[in-house]
Amino acid sequence: MKYIHNNLIIDHDKAYAHVSDLALLRGYGVFDFFRLVGLQPLFFDDHLERFYNSASQLRLTCPVSKEELKALILKIISINKIQNSGIRMVLTGGESPNGYSIGNPTLFVINEPINPLPENHFTEGIKLITHEYLRDIPEVKTINYLMGIYNLPKIHEQGATDQLYHWNGKISELTRSNFFIVDQNGTIATPGNGILKGINRAHVLQIAKPKYDVEEQDVHLDELKNCKEAFITGTTKKVMPVRQVDDIVIGNGTLGKVTSDLQKLFEIHIEEHLKEN
Ligand SMILES: Cc1ncc(COP(=O)(O)O)c(C=O)c1O
Repeated sequence: MKYIHNNLIIDHDKAYAHVSDLALLRGYGVFDFFRLVGLQPLFFDDHLERFYNSASQLRLTCPVSKEELKALILKIISINKIQNSGIRMVLTGGESPNGYSIGNPTLFVINEPINPLPENHFTEGIKLITHEYLRDIPEVKTINYLMGIYNLPKIHEQGATDQLYHWNGKISELTRSNFFIVDQNGTIATPGNGILKGINRAHVLQIAKPKYDVEEQDVHLDELKNCKEAFITGTTKKVMPVRQVDDIVIGNGTLGKVTSDLQKLFEIHIEEHLKEN
């Protein structure tokens, strides 16, 4: 399998970062991740844009331009031919002269298989546990997933799939997805600040807006008790219902009407988007 290292296409078993890389020593770096439908990248330009934005926010310069990176990625996709796989672009802090200052960032692009998620997650929903936490520089897609990985045993012990982060009573997002509720009036609300602006979140907002009342605003923990539905969005989660958060059963505790409708609209939107791009 072929990966990308800076401006080169290399064999995956030759992809190494230096031991003095700031990503390894201090967890400093950014990444982005998108999926292929068949062999066609989904929301490619959106992910490239966010990747370069994340890099510039962390003062990291990518060794290749956006156009060069796009061409290199299309090349490895056509060589590897792994249907429905994922593409992970990683930009590290680079080899650091003193273990703390930014070096010359190293770019890696990994093409990895995506394991399908259990079908009942989409048809019945998932359980979440809450965790009080604020991600560092939340609007940037950094490589720091410390709290997500650290809490995995606790999440699994409680029969949950993931954790819902909140801070000062306000919900932000999950470890790797964005969060939405549908209130008793059918209004869809999703946090607008202190989050990573998911690409799938943006596309779901786009398809929801003509049909539903949609608000990007603070969502409080205590709204969970009275909401009708809750769902999450993300690259592999697409639109996934939430049936329970801690001890709170959301709505009827299964896939709700609005979520189900958005799942269908999202599939149509993806098909149309792929045709146009
Ligand atoms: C913290 C965080 N929030 C939200 C998302 C969802 O983003 P996207 O829809 O672009 O996959 C991710 C994706 O990994 C994430 O890491």
